[in-house]
Amino acid sequence: MRTYGCQMNEHDSERIAGLLEMDGLEQTESFDDADVIVLNTCCIRENADNKLYGQLGNLKKLKEERPDLQIAVGGCLAQKDRDGIRERAPHVDVVFGTHNVGRATDLLGHARVSGPITEIIEESESFPSALPVKRDAHHAAWVTIQIGCDNSCAFCIVPSVRGKEISRPYSELIGEVEQLAMAGVTEITLLGQNVNSYGRDLTLKLRGTQVSAESSELVGEAWVRGPHTARPLFSDLLCSVAEVSGIRRVRYTSPHPKDLRPETIDAMAQVPEVCEHLHLPLQSGSDDVLSAMHRGYTADRYIEKVDAARRQIPDLALSTDIIVGFPGETDVDFERTLEVAAEVRFDNAYTFVYSPRPGTEAAELVQRFVPAKISAERMERLRRVIERTSLKGNESRIGHDEEVIVEGQSKRDSEMLTGRTRHNRLVHFPAQEKIRPGSYAQVRVTEARTFNLVGELLEVTAAAKHRTRIPVVSS
Ligand code: 5AD
Ligand code: SF4
Repeated sequence: MRTYGCQMNEHDSERIAGLLEMDGLEQTESFDDADVIVLNTCCIRENADNKLYGQLGNLKKLKEERPDLQIAVGGCLAQKDRDGIRERAPHVDVVFGTHNVGRATDLLGHARVSGPITEIIEESESFPSALPVKRDAHHAAWVTIQIGCDNSCAFCIVPSVRGKEISRPYSELIGEVEQLAMAGVTEITLLGQNVNSYGRDLTLKLRGTQVSAESSELVGEAWVRGPHTARPLFSDLLCSVAEVSGIRRVRYTSPHPKDLRPETIDAMAQVPEVCEHLHLPLQSGSDDVLSAMHRGYTADRYIEKVDAARRQIPDLALSTDIIVGFPGETDVDFERTLEVAAEVRFDNAYTFVYSPRPGTEAAELVQRFVPAKISAERMERLRRVIERTSLKGNESRIGHDEEVIVEGQSKRDSEMLTGRTRHNRLVHFPAQEKIRPGSYAQVRVTEARTFNLVGELLEVTAAAKHRTRIPVVSS
């Protein structure tokens, strides 16, 4: 399995791997040893396309040497390019989309008998989380709470490949979290394209109907007890997930700034399990660019939301996504992005050069495209601002005792362990004793770097249990 793109895709891959294992396959480390290769693709930015087609080019020789090798391509790029994938890479056996992840093994079986197949469906109400799963980490799990997106950001291809927003029923989500907790998972990350609108579609469905016990299965008890208005359920969900016995940390990604509601911040401030970390995509600091992007907020409104969140959660870590070189972005627009980034003091930012996605509104604005050289220069300046604020944020942790989840041995130094703080910062610390991944420990921060912290171990507060297999979740 090779996965490109976001956490949603990583999660879909866990499900595809789970299905393949149920079918009797085992994971291999190298393509050379594999009988089946699945590439789970992303199309959100252009370099993801290039990477995929490059990879497929490399695999052609392998397929020629071993005609029995099966190559499958799934995910967003498959959903978008469809037959185009096999036209560019005829050695691919199976192409499947984002809505038929659950068919991966059937399609491979079909292709073995009847030859190559492309199957893309437009829409489905099934969620990847209803499929078996094979996870890399045993202490942390992603849970998809909604699929699709109802927004129409001018640069973004997600609505056209992932479809309209559909929320997963409340009790099904809690049921999955309970099963995960029983299997030893202590950290849950709720995933969605626009998590703050989670449940809006569900409560709309129930408006004007007779509310019954079954309604709480769909929308949770808090809604059933409340005034039955059509409203998002995300803050209820944060509370319910945190209440599940064994869950010690709850995270979520991503909220849309225009929909970030006070109830969500209240839940973050009041519920101890919800981590003090907010990932809030800014995209641009210029009001003109934000408006052209159809983001539905101004820079001031964004800053107000961050200030309000910080008032309630003073120790909040903040991360973001920013696009540089959106069509028509002027030097003045870009300076605003730098100003807002410096003012807001991001602890971390994912920065992207704008890449036109065919079929999106912004891709039509060819005359206004920003030359690559200018985007690259802007990117470099933005990177420096982010690194400065990120280092400052890390320095502010020196002397603090932080709770970390131990992730394992440090990749650079086998004498060191790495752990993640509640703020999602990586900490390296030396450890004489063996500490199992998934254990919780207190670490005193002694040194700050741009991208991580260094500390010393104070004590292990909760040793991870022996690994248990995550049960197959069915619904
Ligand atoms: N070009 C560059 N970045 C993009 N993103 C989404 N679409 C594009 C695009 N066409 C970025 C946004 C989003 C993140 C997941 O990817 O910043 O928040
Ligand atoms: Fe894309 Fe905007 Fe939806 Fe995010 S909110 S997935 S950027 S359309």
